[in-house]
Amino acid sequence: MARESIREWLAASPVRLAPMASYTNVPFRQVAVACGSGYTTNEEIDADALSRDNERALLSAQTPPPESGIDLGVVAMQLLGCTEETMVPAALRLVEAGAHIVDVNMGCPVPKIVKRGKGAALMRDVASTAQLLTAIRRAIPDTPLTIKIRSGWSDEHQNAVEVARMAQDVGVDAITVHPRTRAQLYAGRAPWDVIGDVVRAVDIPVTGNGDVLSLADARRMMDETGCVSVMIGRGALGRPWVFDPTYGALDDEAKYAYEIDVISRHLDLMEAIFAPNEAAFQAKKHLMYYSHGWPGATLIRRELFDKRWMSEVREVFAMRLRPLRPAGGVPFATSAASTVVE
Ligand SMILES: Cc1cc2nc3c(=O)[nH]c(=O)nc-3n(C[C@H](O)[C@H](O)[C@H](O)COP(=O)(O)O)c2cc1C
Repeated sequence: MARESIREWLAASPVRLAPMASYTNVPFRQVAVACGSGYTTNEEIDADALSRDNERALLSAQTPPPESGIDLGVVAMQLLGCTEETMVPAALRLVEAGAHIVDVNMGCPVPKIVKRGKGAALMRDVASTAQLLTAIRRAIPDTPLTIKIRSGWSDEHQNAVEVARMAQDVGVDAITVHPRTRAQLYAGRAPWDVIGDVVRAVDIPVTGNGDVLSLADARRMMDETGCVSVMIGRGALGRPWVFDPTYGALDDEAKYAYEIDVISRHLDLMEAIFAPNEAAFQAKKHLMYYSHGWPGATLIRRELFDKRWMSEVREVFAMRLRPLRPAGGVPFATSAASTVVE
């Protein structure tokens, strides 16, 4: 049965890229998958926007055509919303558009989102959310349906276990837990014990997430909590090679060649997929992360930000940024994952 496939997909490649709005678009996901990430999730798609045929939502809901040469493998698409009227047709549209998995965002903490009852606000009203998930489940009976939750709304209102049990009861096939509360946003350490609590409470597969910066961290999270898979978010920005178990064993020269090859392929993909202005905008954002910790990169990043076209961005990368990459690699403590960009 198609819904059972999710267990195989999770087991086949247990560490994967977390969805990150305005970062985890097709080019970055393709790069992450090529480095070894398990199935990826696109950036959140607002069901209301999709119902209005909003251009950005439609773009996010597209899968690359076969002639593009891009192969993302299994694709999860994430929906943001709170009403059956928009979420049910949106889920159907995502399946039609090629989603192998539909994921419901129950963790987004952004004020303008939760104010409208979406994202993490779905964890506050468990009964209504149960109805919403039941309606989506009925509409897409053969497609794996997953949710991504936080530990709760606030320190005083932590209900990840209750929400997880409810989700299992209404037919959700797998759960990802990012164990910060909505009030914590991305600050402080993610209390992994909440992931273990959810694992023990349900029989469906649980993915853990939060503060994982390496495959060794991912292994530790799986050992400590019993989760079957792990998502890496900020720790993959500027270092998608985090998913490659062979990367750590490479010598400095091979690491350098590997990284430059990945960055170059990422630039090529952005140029191939996006309109010219969007390609340059995206490339600048990702180069900020790739060059994090490279000595002297701050000044050049400012220069980069004035550029409007990919040809200019590529020139700054090749002539100015790339020569700064330190021979021994970038010590991770100073690298991208310590920064939240949202
Ligand atoms: C810039 C940014 C955008 C994000 N966008 C989404 C999103 O669209 N959907 C979602 O479920 N989580 C989103 N998240 C949360 C991440 O998926 C992840 O749960 C969080 O960053 C914690 O994991 P980490 O410590 O590995 O980064 C976002 C996080 C960041 C930093």
